[in-house]
Amino acid sequence: MPGLVEGKAGLVTGAASGIGRACALRFGAEGASVVVSDLESSRAGGEETVRAIQEAGGTAEFFPCDVAVSSDCEALVAHVVESYGRLDFAHNNAGIGVHAPLAETSDEDFDRVIAVNLRGTFLGMKFQIRQMLRHGGGAIVNTSSNAGLRGVHLIGAYAASKHGILGLTKNGAIEYANDGIRVNAVCPAAIMTPLMADLPPERQQEILAPQALNRPGDPAEVAAAVVWLCSDDASFVTGVAMPVDAGSVAGW
Ligand SMILES: NC(=O)c1ccc[n+]([C@@H]2O[C@H](COP(=O)([O-])OP(=O)(O)OC[C@H]3O[C@@H](n4cnc5c(N)ncnc54)[C@H](O)[C@@H]3O)[C@@H](O)[C@H]2O)c1
Repeated sequence: MPGLVEGKAGLVTGAASGIGRACALRFGAEGASVVVSDLESSRAGGEETVRAIQEAGGTAEFFPCDVAVSSDCEALVAHVVESYGRLDFAHNNAGIGVHAPLAETSDEDFDRVIAVNLRGTFLGMKFQIRQMLRHGGGAIVNTSSNAGLRGVHLIGAYAASKHGILGLTKNGAIEYANDGIRVNAVCPAAIMTPLMADLPPERQQEILAPQALNRPGDPAEVAAAVVWLCSDDASFVTGVAMPVDAGSVAGW
């Protein structure tokens, strides 16, 4: 049976680790050619992701990109097209977090989180959409968070960035629907990646508390949603903020 994204080509940012790596692996396993992207300083992790895809029989390569830098985002899209002839899907996943009460968040930390998470998503979408318009369409998935749907204690800057990503997602969806471009977002709750594992156990418990299912998610559980949203099976789905969150925003 052909894979969900058989023959398609695309990119995943922040794919040296965690959710991005799991998504890149799943895209590869479902038949897509994948450009695995991350910071140059994370090249080793990115190349590990590439190796894992290739060992499973898939097609992948690493290309560095700092999503906060416009020329990097443009070069990344150009590279996918150079390698595979087109850009069918893009997963804007790179992100960082800062944990502090809102009034204790430094201006520098706020700016850094917005630059990577929100501006990085904007820059990615801009060049991805321009390319997709040239080739008759495509699918974009942005990684927001359950902190894009509600407040979460101690991550005000992050929550602002993730709410903003949903604004970009909805605008991208309505402005380009008739050009064959779909834009969606996933909103994960606590997923066991370095971003989560590096937090003290008490903080991890606080983050897990609102979830109906009292366990951290596996990155592969987010990847299943992301790859589906990029597949033709989701052809009538655009502009959604899909919780992948064990019931976190359903009520607690
Ligand atoms: N882990 C969770 O519980 C969780 C929950 C909700 C949303 N998210 C979101 O999922 C995404 C992935 O997070 P993760 O948990 O896999 O974290 P992670 O730290 O394992 O991976 C993030 C990756 O992004 C890369 N990155 C950081 N800054 C970058 C930049 N400027 N340009 C390019 N790459 C950059 C890092 O090098 C890293 O490889 C993030 O957007 C995060 O906010 C995570």
